[in-house]
Amino acid sequence: MIMPDKKNQKVTVPILLEMKSKGEKITALTAYDFPTAKILDAAGVDVILVGDSLGMVVLGYDNTIPVTMEDMIHHTKAVARGTRRALIVGDMPYFSYHVSEAESVRNASRFLKEAGAHAVKIEGASRPRLNLVRALVEAEIPVMGHIGLTPQSILHLGQFKVRGKELEEAKRIMKEAQNLERAGVFSVILECVPLELARIITDKLNIPTIGIGAGPDCDGQILVFHDLVGYLDTYMPKFVKKYANLYESLIQTVHTYSEEVKSGGFPDDRYSYHFKSDQNLEVLLKSKPSKE
Ligand code: KIV
Repeated sequence: MIMPDKKNQKVTVPILLEMKSKGEKITALTAYDFPTAKILDAAGVDVILVGDSLGMVVLGYDNTIPVTMEDMIHHTKAVARGTRRALIVGDMPYFSYHVSEAESVRNASRFLKEAGAHAVKIEGASRPRLNLVRALVEAEIPVMGHIGLTPQSILHLGQFKVRGKELEEAKRIMKEAQNLERAGVFSVILECVPLELARIITDKLNIPTIGIGAGPDCDGQILVFHDLVGYLDTYMPKFVKKYANLYESLIQTVHTYSEEVKSGGFPDDRYSYHFKSDQNLEVLLKSKPSKE
């Protein structure tokens, strides 16, 4: 039995492939820190992506372009400290895999050697990207692909929008998925593509597809954690289902704290310490100082 015991058995690349072949859905979410990783792991999420969406939802940038290798390594280390079971994928940031194959492989290896990730993710499926996938796999680094809407292309594309709605683009995305599989990725993220296209790609590939805005027929689903829990009050694309509204409830929580501090309601005796002697401390402090 290769299926991961939901509580204990570590999720590995072969287990994800087995899940696809058995029709068991894969759950994935992003995390960028220790407490979130602990929560996702405890909830039985199979894959934790330390996404470069970090730049937008944690660091406050307008897009993912400014995120650095150092940012990613720092946050992946924190996620690894909070994870026992899930497979951790480190997202290679913009320009960490664009200059030369040697530099790209070296950067990818840092996610595994320094940060504790089990795989890396790269965007796109151009010829140099496919060569890079082959080089990474040759270096024993498991790779997740990412096609459809690729956020690191934002300056080139001009806007985030659904890809593959027209036949020519749908054909191109289909080809990219097949080329990535042939090059050796163990899984591919399909972002913002029509569900009909995602269904066909999922049927054609032997590796799992993980969808985000790609409909229900992918082998797995991923969302950005901050979107799922409503951590921010920013614009949400159509594909995001907000399962909670943390932004509102945290404002309410902090507001209650402030009110209690101002009114003297916090901290009361339950949250305070007492001097260990029964004697009056004020009197004792006035008594003669000890020799030292
Ligand atoms: O960076 C990220 O969070 C991602 C997901 C949206 C797939 O790439």
